[in-house]
Amino acid sequence: VTLGLDLGTSGVKVVALSLSGQTLAQATHTYPLLTPQPGWTEQRPHDWVQATLNALREVSAHLQAAGHTPLALGLSGQMHGAVFLDAHGEVIRPAPLWNDQRTADAVQEIERSLPRAELIARTGNRAVTGFQLPKLLWLRQAEPDAFARTRHVLLPKDYLAYVLTGQIATEPSDASGVGALNLATKQWDQDVLDALNLPASLFPQVLNSWDVVGKLTAELAASTGLPAGLPVVAGGGDNAAAGIALGLQSGRPEIGSVSLGTSGVLFAPLAQPTPDPEGRVHLFAHADGGYNLLGVTLSAAGALQWFRDRLAPDTSFDTLLAEAAAIPDGADGVTFLPYLSGERSPWMNPDLRASFTGLSLAHGRGHLVRALLEGTVLALSDTFEIMKPLAHPASFLATGGGARSDFWLGLVAGALGAAVQRSAQEQEPGAAEGAAILAMPAAGFYPTLPAAVDALRPHGSGIQALETGRAKQQHAAAVQRLHFPDIASA
Ligand code: XUL
Repeated sequence: VTLGLDLGTSGVKVVALSLSGQTLAQATHTYPLLTPQPGWTEQRPHDWVQATLNALREVSAHLQAAGHTPLALGLSGQMHGAVFLDAHGEVIRPAPLWNDQRTADAVQEIERSLPRAELIARTGNRAVTGFQLPKLLWLRQAEPDAFARTRHVLLPKDYLAYVLTGQIATEPSDASGVGALNLATKQWDQDVLDALNLPASLFPQVLNSWDVVGKLTAELAASTGLPAGLPVVAGGGDNAAAGIALGLQSGRPEIGSVSLGTSGVLFAPLAQPTPDPEGRVHLFAHADGGYNLLGVTLSAAGALQWFRDRLAPDTSFDTLLAEAAAIPDGADGVTFLPYLSGERSPWMNPDLRASFTGLSLAHGRGHLVRALLEGTVLALSDTFEIMKPLAHPASFLATGGGARSDFWLGLVAGALGAAVQRSAQEQEPGAAEGAAILAMPAAGFYPTLPAAVDALRPHGSGIQALETGRAKQQHAAAVQRLHFPDIASA
């Protein structure tokens, strides 16, 4: 049995997988999200640790009762957060998270210090508000005393590895979301750090995602019931680990994934580190030693959730989806741009806002929902257009709450012009399962990571693509009006 852990934004999930990928036990424990100021999101690393130990205890008790012995623990988690440690390894302040928006000035400082094209060529990404690097610059500027005491800055799951083993390290898939990892060498980029006057000693050594960071300390083994000396494997960022669980490999770039969660995520495996020259989609290291493009649209199922909660609180999602399915392509002229939380890919603009346009007395709720769903899938297709010159997925495995709807997935297939499949597995494989797979080579189950992924790859079932031609035209015109109002009216 291997264990996999996903340190998420709302809670931590631990799973135990058998050699054949069967889930033998799982536990989830939650923790609060702190929003001390508008646009700030933080968590207390201590809360992560408590929840993690509770989840490990629960899974360990299940396994003991069933007579299973865990052989390794793999880690994954939310990307981009910053845990600041002092010389004694103590946490200095709560950790700002991936969706924190406080770093606008720090992003500008990075853009002033390094030409954007050079940063993209080196790190695969332009300076992004949510990444870890601008958080460190924010600390230097806003809390200089805290910065002066900082000896290490760790990503969330790497902090857990430190607590569990006493060892400080990271791995490329998460480290590439810091904003200072050279993607060709997978080591910290000295020129980027020099340009920002940051010492390299702040950043952890970079291992492979399937390497062992260290062994579970005797104290935590006693407190969780897990074996002392259990190997803890570096693992991956949550998107990379979820990719591993879906069987996405950089050697098989023809299969990607699309997730309709709160946000929408397109994941495209890549063999080589070829970024979009303008940084409109992210380029990260994949946890299998290759790379992946990642497009994140901030409102997907979250947009439908907003609509339901605010405008139709007594109506089920199924009813809303059925009403939308009865309306034709293009929603009889209604268009929705889904930028309820600003937008990441491809516009990278936190200030964008959403809109419904084209309404008349003839339109009803079904039109609004149809337009909303079309808007979310066309935002994904805007991102896919940027990926196309660089990556070549011909089909996508669908995940996330929105993927339960055949209708919504049909719109995704129509908008992307690619085959979309739903995983045939009863329980959707996620980052925790991927982390458990990343731990399998260390457990001696499979000789290499690709061997493990090949053996456990889930199979999908196809989804019928729906017509989205009219919606596409309306969306393109609305995007044009939003970004280029002068041209659109001329
Ligand atoms: C990826 C990103 C999110 C977090 C959420 O760039 O910001 O997917 O990893 O956990």
